[in-house]
Amino acid sequence: MSTDLPVGIHDLTFATTSLVLTHDELARHTGANPSKYHYGIGQRAMSIPAVDEDIVTLAAEAAAPLVDRHGGDTIRTLLLATESGIDQSKAAGIYVHRLLGLHSGVRVVELKQACYGATAALQLACALVRTDPTQRILVLASDIARYDLDSPGEATQGAAAAAMLVGAHPALATVDAVSGLFTQDIMDFWRPNYRATPLVDGKKSLDAYLHALDGAWHDHQSRHGLPLEKLRAVCYHQPFTRMAHKAHHRLLYTNGAQPTPETVQQAVAPTTTYNELVGNSYTASLYLALAALLDSDTPLEGETVGLFSYGSGSVAEFLTATVQPRYRSTLHTWAHQKALATRTALTYPTYLDLHSEQLPQDGHTYRTPHQTRGRYRLAGIDAHQRIYETTTG
Ligand code: CAA
Repeated sequence: MSTDLPVGIHDLTFATTSLVLTHDELARHTGANPSKYHYGIGQRAMSIPAVDEDIVTLAAEAAAPLVDRHGGDTIRTLLLATESGIDQSKAAGIYVHRLLGLHSGVRVVELKQACYGATAALQLACALVRTDPTQRILVLASDIARYDLDSPGEATQGAAAAAMLVGAHPALATVDAVSGLFTQDIMDFWRPNYRATPLVDGKKSLDAYLHALDGAWHDHQSRHGLPLEKLRAVCYHQPFTRMAHKAHHRLLYTNGAQPTPETVQQAVAPTTTYNELVGNSYTASLYLALAALLDSDTPLEGETVGLFSYGSGSVAEFLTATVQPRYRSTLHTWAHQKALATRTALTYPTYLDLHSEQLPQDGHTYRTPHQTRGRYRLAGIDAHQRIYETTTG
């Protein structure tokens, strides 16, 4: 197995839902000052799934442009990371595999560790490619972040899926071999199997995130990872985009700098443009931050960027990726912006109806109304089975 072989992200896209709730509209209901949302947590809007959208349709939507562009023949593994799983046994990626029309010679598996799972999937994908550089791996991160109504977490909901095609000699970014890890058994955010929404200790989760950043960064440095001054930018997991500001402030401070809100804002701004309009997308969030940075005006040819992945509970990783000289020719910037701009804005009462919507749990046949604008939809439930279809229009 060669460690010199350049391996990493060959292509990257994301998809989000057809509906959106703005934080201005949420503020009209909660009575909060909108600037708490816009500046205090750094959010403008959050994607809300239509009744016929779920983690499968989002993941297929994100991955379809990659399969359209590169074909599916060399894909040997599909890894789907999520913390909003739809089945205790069957991997959601198997539905995606069929919707994408992939051949049968593919291994499909689901990964879970809160928001961190996609980073484990990315590292596994890189390791698999090093064993056989002719294969490509489809890494999907798909999540719907749903909190209880009128809870502090409600303003940090969101939904999206990111798709990455991982391979040798990647066109977008190589993933560097050195990474820093951190694990701690802590109850900051979790979702028992019987609950549709997580239990969360908000303040504790912020501290746990920053503590995990310290731990992963120190591990990265102890393994001779690149020093901070060699990194052109750092993308952070963004449960809300202000968290990236807090994290970057912490990392600068840890490295002996005297950060100001202005220097932090300048450094972090290119990574937050998508997440401030999408909200938390759990496993996908870090990769939406990376997509935003790549799609921004920041010149990144040959530059190394840091990626900080955090999953409550908790596992964290600090890794680096080196952006390839001709990366701009592979970007999906226009499609990303279109996905955000074409969402339908919800009023608070329509959002409430969607929030309380539940698929039947007794197996009775149920057909979902056609709401999505996407290529794929959850058509309904039949005998406890989820029925997916490709839309025609
Ligand atoms: N103008 C500007 N700022 C204002 C303001 C105003 N009018 N009013 C309040 N603010 C500021 C506050 O000062 C605060 O800023 P600081 O954090 O810098 O002090 C910020 O807005 C938020 O205000 P509160 O702390 O009062 O907000 P809250 O009690 O409503 O809760 C939260 C915020 C804890 C993040 C909550 O939304 C939550 O629990 N979210 C879910 C958990 C979460 O996202 N945790 C993140 C780490 S865990 C993780 O990353 C995994 C994951 O994805 C879940």
